Amino acid sequence: DDDEKGKREDLSNGNILNGNMAANNFVKPCQLKAPLVVTIVGLPFRGKSLAAHKISRNLFWKGEKVKVFEVEESANEETLKSISEWFGNSNNVAIIDGMHLTKQSRTLVGNYCRKNVYHHLIVEFECEPDCVEENINDTAEFYQKIDNNQDWLQTFREKNAKYKSSFEKCLPQEGALINVTNSENVLVHSVRARGVQGLLQTIILGVLSSPVIKHRVFYFSRHGESEFNVLGRIGGDADLSPRGKKYSENLAKQLGGPGSSPNAPKPRLIWTSELQRTIHTVQNIPGPRTALKDLNEINAGICEGLTYEEIQERFPQEFAWRDADKLKYRYPHGESYLDLLQRVDGVVQALLLNTEVLVVSHQAVLRCILAYFKGSKPEEIPYVNVPLHTLLIVKSHGYDFKIETVPLKVECVDTYRMQPSNCSIMRTTQEALTTVPQHFDAPLIN
Ligand code: F6P
Repeated sequence: DDDEKGKREDLSNGNILNGNMAANNFVKPCQLKAPLVVTIVGLPFRGKSLAAHKISRNLFWKGEKVKVFEVEESANEETLKSISEWFGNSNNVAIIDGMHLTKQSRTLVGNYCRKNVYHHLIVEFECEPDCVEENINDTAEFYQKIDNNQDWLQTFREKNAKYKSSFEKCLPQEGALINVTNSENVLVHSVRARGVQGLLQTIILGVLSSPVIKHRVFYFSRHGESEFNVLGRIGGDADLSPRGKKYSENLAKQLGGPGSSPNAPKPRLIWTSELQRTIHTVQNIPGPRTALKDLNEINAGICEGLTYEEIQERFPQEFAWRDADKLKYRYPHGESYLDLLQRVDGVVQALLLNTEVLVVSHQAVLRCILAYFKGSKPEEIPYVNVPLHTLLIVKSHGYDFKIETVPLKVECVDTYRMQPSNCSIMRTTQEALTTVPQHFDAPLIN
């Protein structure tokens, strides 16, 4: 009958079932928004941890509440207890980074997920001998630099040999399964309803499919000081101030342009926004350049071209709303930081396909991009400090990134505005303006 048909449709949509359905002996389906457990599988030196942390970084940046659970060999009851606690605190992704070499160890996690109605994804890592050798050498070199009192190559070779015979390859029947060979060939096993499905698993598939470049370096900078910066005006398409032009010369000296030392790094690619202040900032730096719309500054909508004081005067309520929740606040006819995070997703993914890229963009956009490398919490992103006239060098370090800050010592205004303590719409003008940075008097614009 219709009622029964409706319920069946419910089932195919993956929605939560009511009591009747359970009584009808249906398999209890996963809630659409159920938490996800990812079990990492593979022998040592197969690229597991690098991938686990890459997945975690990506999901965290996209606003998911994710944690990597490192385990010696396989998850045990203790691990599962910690995962339950993690999910109990409104978090939604747990990645278990261990070997899980036996079918039994994977079944323990699989059963736990089934019982609790969690999604479960198995990601298995394998490597051909050449690739294992390369991974062992790379890891040994990394550790040797940190601690030279041990022969790491020998230690790691022994570790590799030790576990080989215990590995039972994953079977598609064990659950949704992705197999990664040599960190580059990705195979998705789909066994009817147990296949890889849903947004999170699709994102993970994308992350695993993007190439692993072990040593990366990226250069980031805001444009040189602009004529609008000097006046404290936001947005617009003003050109560089005289100090901004000086910065563009100094930046070129750092990056292979006129006056640079012979061993100065030369970016392979230069990406700017479409606005003249970024294009002019890189004009003396050699290398192929591309102007990307996605790197344009946050669109401040009705507030474009105004100073913070003028925003307070004309739109005090908007100004207070933005201060109260800067991440989610969207300027009328403009953008929010959440919009920006979506806008720069493609840029970050493209960056990760490359190395030695120079990105010259703007305060808000760079906050969003740098958040990926820094692992900043979403609500911290709108307050990350990205000063003018400073080169930021981001280098991969194992599965992490290190950021070096190089101020180029050309005087400039400060455009950083802290969150004021009073964000209520009832606050006084003085309270609203307490954290506005100093600037030259801006002539009124209409
Ligand atoms: O002030 C320079 C600027 O790049 C503006 O163009 C932009 O609106 C602003 O910074 C973004 O920073 P915030 O989100 O802190 O206002």
